[in-house]
Amino acid sequence: MAAINEATDLAIDGDIAVVTVASPPVNALSSTVRAGINTAVKQANESEAAAIVLICAGRTFIAGADITEFGGAAKGPSLRDVQDTLENSAIPVVAAIHGTALGGGLELALCAHYRIAVPSAKCGLPEVNLGLLPGAGGTQRLPRIVGVEKALQMIAFGDHVPAAECHEMGLVDEMAVEGQLLGDAVAYARRIVAEDRPLARVSNLNDKLIADAQVFADFRAANAKKFRGFEAPQAIITCVEAAVNGSFDDGMTVERELFTALMAGNQSKAQRHLFFAERQAWKIPDVPKDTELIPVESVGIIGAGTMGGGIAMNYANAGIPVTLIETSQEAIDRGLSVVRANYERSAKRGRFSMDEVEVRMGRITPSLDMNDLAEVDMVVEAVFERMDVKKDIFGRLDQICKPGAILATNTSALNIDEIADATTRPEWVIGMHFFSPANVMKLVEVVRAEKTSIPVINTTMQISKRIGKVATLVRVCPGFVGNRILAARRRVADNLINQGAMPWEIDKAMFDFGFAMGPFQMSDLAGLDLGWVKEESSSSTIRECLCELDRRGQKSGAGYYDYDENRTATPSSITEEIVRRFAAQAGFEPRDWTADEIVERLVLGMVNEGAKILEEGMAIRSSDIDVIWVHGYNWPRYWGGPMFWADLQGLDTVAARLNELAASDGDHWKPAGLITQLAAEGKSFSDAG
Ligand code: 3HC
Repeated sequence: MAAINEATDLAIDGDIAVVTVASPPVNALSSTVRAGINTAVKQANESEAAAIVLICAGRTFIAGADITEFGGAAKGPSLRDVQDTLENSAIPVVAAIHGTALGGGLELALCAHYRIAVPSAKCGLPEVNLGLLPGAGGTQRLPRIVGVEKALQMIAFGDHVPAAECHEMGLVDEMAVEGQLLGDAVAYARRIVAEDRPLARVSNLNDKLIADAQVFADFRAANAKKFRGFEAPQAIITCVEAAVNGSFDDGMTVERELFTALMAGNQSKAQRHLFFAERQAWKIPDVPKDTELIPVESVGIIGAGTMGGGIAMNYANAGIPVTLIETSQEAIDRGLSVVRANYERSAKRGRFSMDEVEVRMGRITPSLDMNDLAEVDMVVEAVFERMDVKKDIFGRLDQICKPGAILATNTSALNIDEIADATTRPEWVIGMHFFSPANVMKLVEVVRAEKTSIPVINTTMQISKRIGKVATLVRVCPGFVGNRILAARRRVADNLINQGAMPWEIDKAMFDFGFAMGPFQMSDLAGLDLGWVKEESSSSTIRECLCELDRRGQKSGAGYYDYDENRTATPSSITEEIVRRFAAQAGFEPRDWTADEIVERLVLGMVNEGAKILEEGMAIRSSDIDVIWVHGYNWPRYWGGPMFWADLQGLDTVAARLNELAASDGDHWKPAGLITQLAAEGKSFSDAG
């Protein structure tokens, strides 16, 4: 075996040349890998070999271009150069795939003449998740193999398609036996030589490129909601259309132009930021990699309401048995029937079989006796938000649970230090703040209390990963991180309506920014009367006035908006009158508010609160705040998160605007010290870590 460079080897196995890429962790196409493959394939062509096998060491085939190199100066051969070398090889090249062949990795494999894969392998073009499109011919070659409709689906959604399915659609030519990829690939290459098979070039295939304009129009229409606001899916459809309507070379030109534009744009910057932010969130500075992991093979969940039931599903989905505690048979029956209905809905949508519904339900054991939690490894408490109730439960858990059990609370608002102090083992107490609906929303804020031990933090983060969540570690403060920023946004929104902006103007601005709904639509959904006490209500806020008129949100048929019997919202003249009255009383002249102005104020309010959270050390890094808002509150991914949004504006601009608002609208706008400091240093939040 000869080393071509530090990432690539070339070995001649009789008549077969084997090019091995070894660039952990995912064999991304760095300049070194590109140069290595390019040279190795050329050298193999000059050797006695009759065919080439391209294979990867480690856990996966090439998982794509090296994202860390994006935006830097181009070095060495480009991916397209390497693809040309492969495609123009005088001897057949076989790509041998295990793990995932993704993005540029699959695009390279598409320039091999044949592809073989083990059953566990997956192929995909996930660039759309980075706000990009496949920029190395993927949009032109994939439809030539799998047809237009399948290619549109795969590229616009970034699906990772299992090898067997790839084999069926012709993307993989041959299946290897699991664990025997190299041997099977070499044997396959020998067969190709022996049978004198042609140098199959995907770029020459045209017979599957059949689709009329309607196919594209239908695809756009069917997915309009999912693609709303995103640039990449639209560009992808245009590229696949170009594959159908022109020559291969013309299509490649369109792809190159659109790829370059996306790469330079803010959406891709934002989505690449999130790619790394989501991975960074797992890394905790004072939790070393070798920290003890406490085994968690069973859990107890207290409370079978909406949250408790959803949390139970997460664990059951991951194969972890759950003991679900309630105080009455009626409550437990109701909770379990909701869980069952959720599972059955998923099964009907084809996500798993009806048998699987029973398997998952079978993992949840109902109980009315907290003593049944004596042997569980972890408890998640999810009862209503009252400190006395929680303290009582934790005091009892302290008596009941075995030593070494993790005691988690799903509180979204209460002081976890106080809850922990109700036990004799506060180092075992931690927060696990799930978001509603807990079986759907990806985020868990793991809340470390003052005395939580490092192994408990480590294990809770890892268990969150095991149940399919994105976790961020935060500290105890009112609202923790996500809800604290939500409250800050709400204050700005309330302030705006007090000055005469209409709730629907604000909601529309936030919807157009990319949120599914705005703050007042959220209020109408949640109920305006949360925390409202009729007897104490004194018409002193707009919300109080609405509640007093029994406009308590969707459930009462009216709130900020009027609702018809289908819960369709329309702006309300009653709300409008109240808003105008409050604004006039406070001395504000009616005026038009632009969407930009509204968005700027709401997001600046969030950013300023986020900066205060960082200053106080309540979140580890600004990118964790972005992850929280993307996964807990559906912040539009193409804006990267509120802190990334601020970085995009430039913190000097952010500081200047906050100071202007402080001068015109009140001291509450004063920029956080961290913003002023970073702006003065010419830095961004991401520079600050
Ligand atoms: N470039 C650089 N680094 C990458 C990378 C890439 N394409 N893919 C993964 N990594 C890094 C991760 O940042 C992580 O680093 P860390 O350990 O320092 O945090 C490490 O590799 C391991 O990644 P994961 O934690 O995600 O490991 P998993 O085993 O969970 O997942 C994976 C592996 C499925 C390959 C996943 O990493 C992934 O989806 N990667 C991105 C794939 C992708 O988007 N490819 C397209 C790239 S763009 C492109 O190819 C453009 C082309 O069309 C021109």
